[in-house]
Amino acid sequence: MNILEGLQAVPNVHPLFVHFPIALLMIGGVLFFACYFFDMREMLITAKWNLILGSLASVAAVITGLIAASTIPHNQEIHEAMTIHRNFMIVVALLSLSLGGYLYLKKEVFAMHKNLIFLGCLALMLGLLTVGADFGGKMVFKYGAGTELFKKVNQESEGGHDHEQGEEATSHESHGHDH
Ligand code: HEM
Repeated sequence: MNILEGLQAVPNVHPLFVHFPIALLMIGGVLFFACYFFDMREMLITAKWNLILGSLASVAAVITGLIAASTIPHNQEIHEAMTIHRNFMIVVALLSLSLGGYLYLKKEVFAMHKNLIFLGCLALMLGLLTVGADFGGKMVFKYGAGTELFKKVNQESEGGHDHEQGEEATSHESHGHDH
C-alpha cells in the first residue's frame, strides 16, 4: 500500500508550514480578546505564547512561501493572487513579530489585554492574516496552483507532452504573463 500519497503530491514544503502560524496567531488573538471581556489570568499566558510561537512560525511560512513562488508553474491569474498573498503575508509576519517580540521582552502580560493600541494592532494583524491567507487558498483551491491537475491541464493545452523536471519548474514563464 502506498502511504502518504497526499504528501508526495505536495509541490513544495510551504503547505506543511502555513497552518501553524494561522492556528497559533488566531488562537493567541482570540484569547487576548476573550481576556478583555472575562477575567482569565492564566489564559493570558497561553495567549502570549501562542502569539510568540505564531510569529516565529510565520517567518518559516514566509521563507517557504517565497521559495514556492519561485518554483511553481503558474499563469497570470495565479500570479496576481500570489503577489497580493505575498504582500499581505509579509506584513502579517512583520506585525506579528513586533507584537510577539514586545510581549516577550515586556515579560509582564497581565495588562496587555486592556491596552487598546495593542488590541488594535492585534485586530489589524488578524484581519490581514484572514484576507491574505484567503488569497493563498484562492490560488490553490480556485485556480489549482501547485496541484497535479494544474500541471496536467497545462500540459494538455500545450500539446499533451510530458515536461522534464527542469522545464516544469520554469514553465510559468511560458504562460504569457508579466512579472
Ligand atoms: C505567514 C505567512 C504565510 C501564510 C500563513 C501562508 C498561507 C498560505 C495558504 C493557507 C495557502 C493555501 C494552501 C494551503 O492551504 O496549504 C498558501 C499557498 C501558497 N502560498 Fe502562502 N502563506 C504565507 C506566506 C507566503 C509568501 C510570503 C509567499 C510568497 C509569494 C507565499 C506563496 C504561496 C504559494 C506559491 C502558494 C501555493 C501553494 C504552494 O505552491 O505551496 N506564501 N499560503
